[in-house]
Amino acid sequence: MPGFRRWSKSKFERNPESSFKLLAAVLVITLYLIIKEFQHPTVRIREASTFGSQIQHTQWNGTGKAQETRAKSVRDAMRYTFLKYRENAWGCDDILPVSGGNSSSRNGWGAFIVDSASTLALMGLWDELAHSIEHILAIDFAEVQDLVDPFETTIRYMGGLLSIVELYDVGLIPEHVLHEEARDLILEHAITLAEKLAPAYDTPTGMPWPRIDFETEQGEPDPSFDFHNDPDKREYDHPVIGPARTGSSILENRVLTRLTGNDVYARNSTLAWAPLVWSKWATPWAGMVDAPIDIMTGAPVGRSRQWDGGHDSYYEYLLKITLLAPPSDPHLEVYKKRFLLAAASLRKHLSSRSAPAPKHLMQHLFIGRQDDKQYKNQMGHLACFAPGTILLASKFYDQSQLRSFALALLDGCRHTYTSTPTKIGPETWSWVPKFGYDDPLFLPENERQRKEALESGFWSTESQYKGRPEYVESLFYAWRITGEQRYREWAWEAFAAMEKHCKAPFGYAQLGDVYDTGNSKWVDMQESYWAAETLKYLWLTFTDVDVASLDSWVFSTEGHPFRMIR
Ligand SMILES: *[C@@H]1O[C@H](CO)[C@@H](O)[C@H](O)[C@H]1NC(C)=O
Ligand SMILES: *[C@@H]1O[C@H](CO)[C@@H](O)[C@H](O)[C@H]1NC(C)=O
Repeated sequence: MPGFRRWSKSKFERNPESSFKLLAAVLVITLYLIIKEFQHPTVRIREASTFGSQIQHTQWNGTGKAQETRAKSVRDAMRYTFLKYRENAWGCDDILPVSGGNSSSRNGWGAFIVDSASTLALMGLWDELAHSIEHILAIDFAEVQDLVDPFETTIRYMGGLLSIVELYDVGLIPEHVLHEEARDLILEHAITLAEKLAPAYDTPTGMPWPRIDFETEQGEPDPSFDFHNDPDKREYDHPVIGPARTGSSILENRVLTRLTGNDVYARNSTLAWAPLVWSKWATPWAGMVDAPIDIMTGAPVGRSRQWDGGHDSYYEYLLKITLLAPPSDPHLEVYKKRFLLAAASLRKHLSSRSAPAPKHLMQHLFIGRQDDKQYKNQMGHLACFAPGTILLASKFYDQSQLRSFALALLDGCRHTYTSTPTKIGPETWSWVPKFGYDDPLFLPENERQRKEALESGFWSTESQYKGRPEYVESLFYAWRITGEQRYREWAWEAFAAMEKHCKAPFGYAQLGDVYDTGNSKWVDMQESYWAAETLKYLWLTFTDVDVASLDSWVFSTEGHPFRMIR
């Protein structure tokens, strides 16, 4: 502030005596403010990132440099993934990595291309990105066959498009790959998509329809969640939706509002999750919501309460919107409070230590789920996002008790990886809880599960690996926030296992059984999040810690980086 310095200097020169009084007054006031701050510390949620309070670890002393060989191996995996898709399935949503066929289950706009673009940009794979941008500019979102899922479309397509604009705007993408007019066209595309998704919000509550028909411009219920044929044979009066589907659009729409100056996007996605954030239906556990929820009334009509698949990214976005939203957002304190309450409830009611097993005396912390007043001792790979997200909160909100909780959960996720012959963790697993639950719902059912339980203290209930990112995503947060080298080692072990067992003729296959080391158990599927998230988080773990710093970027639930602007 040069202006201020000039002013005070001239005052001092003109009249030393009055400036002494001034100095004394300033000292007294400062002292008063310091004492007051000690008595009633201000909650620093806003100032935290405005004035650069660190999320990432700071005392690196040279240890935060890139591990070049490892980073290159992951980048090579991305190039291989891209090349095989480009040669065999260009323009389709996904390649089938074993057969070289293709699938178009994401409405056929080339989901892989849009979803992987921010990974290509961060890795500096410019030829690949230039090729992708050509396709992206030519997408016609009006051309569509199936019903559109607003949740998947927002996180994969809209998030992917907006992230490219954001990365361009900070100068990360060279002009020969993306020039300004093309950047503007990509933003136009995001707007077109948002306008096509708009009918989703046409409900009495503002909660989104689970599907939209682009032809009729009408919302539709989720055909796979037939509300007349719920697994529990319940009948609902109206279409229902889960917390993740209704509560994971605010980051993307916030960014779109910032880039366009049009408030409608942020406003609609705020309304979309309002019945969860400001729930007037009392839930027994503070901060946590019951699901599914009736989109016409906003009332919870089921009693499922958890942080696993279907609920996960609602909690993730409660935290992340407080990092991303502008200070003028009046709801940030509410979001922060809801997140902290929900994290405390998760710890108190759902986390459970495994009892020691005969051949494995260590105990591990897992998170179960509550369904209709019954605790279920089952956890899914998706829930391994929780350690990273809670660790991020512990740093940003300065909550040290959440840090040890998060790192213990991460240790539990790692244990599922290191316990299998492939060194990759299963899709879902169960354990015998050490405390509090005399009658666990799930027990080992067959010889195989009994053997797994005996050896590791947990047993797989679904033994596939679906290329999912959540474990390595949490390792990325743990590495960047704690600076402890072991998280890089764990990430390298996981990547080496994926390279060994998943690499297939046309990409990276999913595994039918992580307890089987033979390639015969490949599943001919590769979801776009493999490139959007799994490879991105691995690469970010091995590259220099200044790349896409957590002090400047917020990663969406699909791994797309958005700028933190304060
Ligand atoms: C996708 O697969 C179909 C067969 O299922 C094939 O006809 C088509 O050519 C493939 N598309 C590309 C881009 O290879
Ligand atoms: C916003 O929500 C209203 C319903 O409240 C809907 O009519 C409108 O089309 C939506 N617009 C966008 C851009 O989502």
